[in-house]
Amino acid sequence: MNVQELSTFQVAALAEIAAAGTLADVETLRIKYIGRNGLLQGIMQDLKTVPPADRPEFGRQANVLKQALGEALDQRRGALQASAAQTGLRLDTTLPGLWRGLGRRHPITCVIEEVARIFSRLGFTVADGPDIETEYHNFDALNTPGDHPSRDIQDTFWLESGELLRTQTSPVQIRVMERQQPPIRIIAPGRCYRRDTTDATHSANFHQVEGLYVDRRVSMADLKGDITFFAREMMGADVKVRFRPHFFPFTEPSVEYDFSCHMCHGRGCRVCKNSGWIEISGAGMVDPRVFKIVGIDAAQFTGYAFGMGVERIAMIKYGIEDIRHLYENDLRFLEQFA
Ligand code: PHE
Repeated sequence: MNVQELSTFQVAALAEIAAAGTLADVETLRIKYIGRNGLLQGIMQDLKTVPPADRPEFGRQANVLKQALGEALDQRRGALQASAAQTGLRLDTTLPGLWRGLGRRHPITCVIEEVARIFSRLGFTVADGPDIETEYHNFDALNTPGDHPSRDIQDTFWLESGELLRTQTSPVQIRVMERQQPPIRIIAPGRCYRRDTTDATHSANFHQVEGLYVDRRVSMADLKGDITFFAREMMGADVKVRFRPHFFPFTEPSVEYDFSCHMCHGRGCRVCKNSGWIEISGAGMVDPRVFKIVGIDAAQFTGYAFGMGVERIAMIKYGIEDIRHLYENDLRFLEQFA
């Protein structure tokens, strides 16, 4: 290479450096031009082949070239770093992304929200009551006599204060009727507590949704129609509903009601214990004695009330074979619910 070729080489090299698009490109060019085995090193070796008279000029030019390349590389690196910092794009797009493990609603919450949504279409609003109840609201006002077995220490968690953990959501009926005259249309979802031994279908802490509809001329036909409407909305149009005569102290007449098993469509399986039916809860026409206690005129008004076991509905809707899955908070289980 002669002095003339050296300056041509410099122009081309500086142009290449100025066009480097990434920091990695700058580094590649640094190695190519001024690295230990780079092109500049080769040029210095050429010095020996240059005629002695031209050597001082060639050497001077080579040094100018070396300095120019170093400065151009530094400048390009600085410019790229500055623009990366400005746009926040100090980014390696080949790294794996971060997964933010989004939370989701618990299946019990999903069922409660769905129940509220369906009943809201029938004009029901959501009411609330305390988990720690008085004996009066949980039992007396619900016409449940002092010697009723459900009051037994075996069945109810009593507190030292004489209050108790509500065994059902039915006391919310009393609280609503105490402060409001008909028409009344409410549902009341919430936790209930009973001294049950935990097994695949029982838990000491479970959830119910209470329903109460009081107005002129409310009848058993309304109760059956509304429960059946709910069942179809919740489980699908092919679900069957069965009402069986029963007894509750605060409804007369009373029923228990079952849904056909959603898992096996009534053929019999583990979830429904081969019966083809799942018991949801109880219901009935509000007993006139309860109306008397809360001050509603039973000559003018009638009403129905129902309970609903939220875990039961969740189990048949989602095919959950053991109620304990609902309380263990195992993510492998919970992640299956949208
Ligand atoms: N509270 C009753 C239970 O827990 C169910 C029920 C609610 C029955 C409303 C009648 C009316 O078994």
